[in-house]
Formats: sequence, structure tokens, C-alpha cells
Amino acid sequence: MAHSSPASPPPDRRDFLAKAAAVVIGSALAVAAPVAGLVVALDPLRRKSAAGGAVQVASLAALPEGGEPRQFPVLATRVDAWNITRNVPVGAVFLQRLKGGAVRAFNASCPHAGCFVGFRADKNCYLCPCHNSTFATDGQVLDRTSPSPRALDELTAEVRNGGEVWVTFRNFRPGEKERIPV
Ligand code: FES
Repeated sequence: MAHSSPASPPPDRRDFLAKAAAVVIGSALAVAAPVAGLVVALDPLRRKSAAGGAVQVASLAALPEGGEPRQFPVLATRVDAWNITRNVPVGAVFLQRLKGGAVRAFNASCPHAGCFVGFRADKNCYLCPCHNSTFATDGQVLDRTSPSPRALDELTAEVRNGGEVWVTFRNFRPGEKERIPV
């Protein structure tokens, strides 16, 4: 039986904090993502990425073959009239290197309302802390009564230069059965 340390908040409180963090981060990124898409296109250093629609998010060495999915932030460059700010987080992806070497990628935003899902290693599935949607490792909805209207949004991932994992990052409208890019 697991014991909480004296400094840890009780389980109910931890659960609340996890949900609150997922809502806040998910909401902030829903606002930031379209802006980030624009600034990526405007940044000369990212033009190649914008043209191909892909960004480097991890190294292959961080993904053991046949291992669990791991979450990585997706970073972009923000440009306004006065400043260029690099490495601004605009979203997150889960990457998993399958047996055989292929890399599978999902947008970490829940298709229900945009909270970030987490990966539950003990249950080998993705779980959204906001309304408990669960997803299998292939992204499919596990519990048909859960509120997510579709599977996790799979993204195109490829390995370049022998060890860089590049992902074509996209956000899709939450709450829709179909995938509608935003
Ligand atoms: S936002 Fe994920 S289940 Fe509602």
C-alpha cells in the first residue's frame, strides 16, 4: 500500500491539482497554438520547418525500442514587433518507439476539451485527468462511455539525420468527431 509523505497533499487534493494544471495548460495552449503557427511561419530560421510542417522534438536515443510513450514539449519561436523569443512551448506530443523501430506520435491534447492526457504505465493506457477519457497505446478510445468523441490525434513522425525525431505538429478542434485542423 502506498503512503503519502507528510508534505504531500492528500489524494483528493492531488487529483484536484492535476486536473487544474491540465485545464490551465490545455487552455493556454489552445490560445497560443494558432499564434505560434503564425510566428513559426514568419521566423526565417523556421522557414524550412514551416514549409515541411515539421519540427524536431526529440532525439531517438530518448526513446528505447519497445518502451513506454514519453511526453515532449513542442517549441516554437515567437516574434512580435519588438522581440524574438525562442523555445516557446506551443503544445506537447507523446512519442513511442515501437518494436521494429517506427516512431508513433500523438498530440497530447485530449480531443474532448483540450486538457493534456498523461500516460498510465500501470494500466498501459493514456488517461485524461479532466473527465477520465482513456485511450489505448494505439490512440483508440478505450471506454466507449467516456466523453472523448474521437481517438487521440496521431501526428506524422519521422527520423532524420540518423537520430532526430521530427513531428508534423498540428492541433485539431476539440469536441468534434472528425479531425478538424485549427
Ligand atoms: S478534456 Fe479530456 S476527458 Fe474531457
